[in-house]
Amino acid sequence: MALDKSILAEYKQAGTILSQALAHAKTLIKVDANILEVCQAVEKKIHDLGGSIAFPAQPSIDHIAAHWCPDPGSQEVFEEGMLVKFDVGVHINGRIADSAFSVDLSDDGRHQALIRASKNARDEALKMMKPGVTLAEIGRVIQDEITAEGFSPVRNLSGHGLGEYDVHVAPSIPNFDTGDKTELEEDMVLAVEPFATPGKGKIFEQDQGNIYGYKQFKPVRSPYAREALKIIEEYNGLPFTLHWLAARMGTGQAKLALRELVQKDVLEVYPPLQEVSSGIVSQSEHSVIVADKPIVYTRE
Ligand code: CO
Repeated sequence: MALDKSILAEYKQAGTILSQALAHAKTLIKVDANILEVCQAVEKKIHDLGGSIAFPAQPSIDHIAAHWCPDPGSQEVFEEGMLVKFDVGVHINGRIADSAFSVDLSDDGRHQALIRASKNARDEALKMMKPGVTLAEIGRVIQDEITAEGFSPVRNLSGHGLGEYDVHVAPSIPNFDTGDKTELEEDMVLAVEPFATPGKGKIFEQDQGNIYGYKQFKPVRSPYAREALKIIEEYNGLPFTLHWLAARMGTGQAKLALRELVQKDVLEVYPPLQEVSSGIVSQSEHSVIVADKPIVYTRE
């Protein structure tokens, strides 16, 4: 049994748009480029190509593995020596494509091996996305590719299933051999994303962040929070970031609204994920549909 043709077409369309948007991102991520402006340009590109954004562009830098977004009005720029991960999602009618690449902004190519480690791990794992392969076998291959380059996989980050309007569903795809004998099944839609580091290979959540997820509806009183909720409904329960809301209702009001919505448990915060030993982290990611011939639909 294969996926319905119209559903498959939506995944492929989301993947093609994402691939084109990431190609655009690669031309923009340069030393001295304003980080917020790059994110906004890539998100605009997704819209212009007819896609919807599944989650905000996240240009996480160096020892931040994921979940970092610039604040509204940020003047931060990319700097020489940085390793930048760029991760963003596109959806068509809730069918999500999720992909990320790493870029070495050093003069001397010092991050090349680290980037190669996560990329090799991803590409070898993608070849295994066939029915009957176990999660442990996939994790083992990812781990072996990364350790072959002299680095460690980040063990408490994993790939994940992609649901309808849901960025994280079962199964988790481990980046090391967990011994899990769960088998892949035909038509599972998965994001494969190995992270490699010269550090300890573990991340923790920072205290604060500016990426939000929708938890549950609850009535709210303040006009700001109500206005924010109306805007948030447009995101279909998918994650969003402060600078999106700030562009719609002003930074001060957006911050007040978000604080109230988090307090009321309507929203949850996804803080930046930092490597415990401040090791630099690389990430490479594609989305794939499990089949005897795996369909990697974010690879152009
Ligand atoms: Co991703």
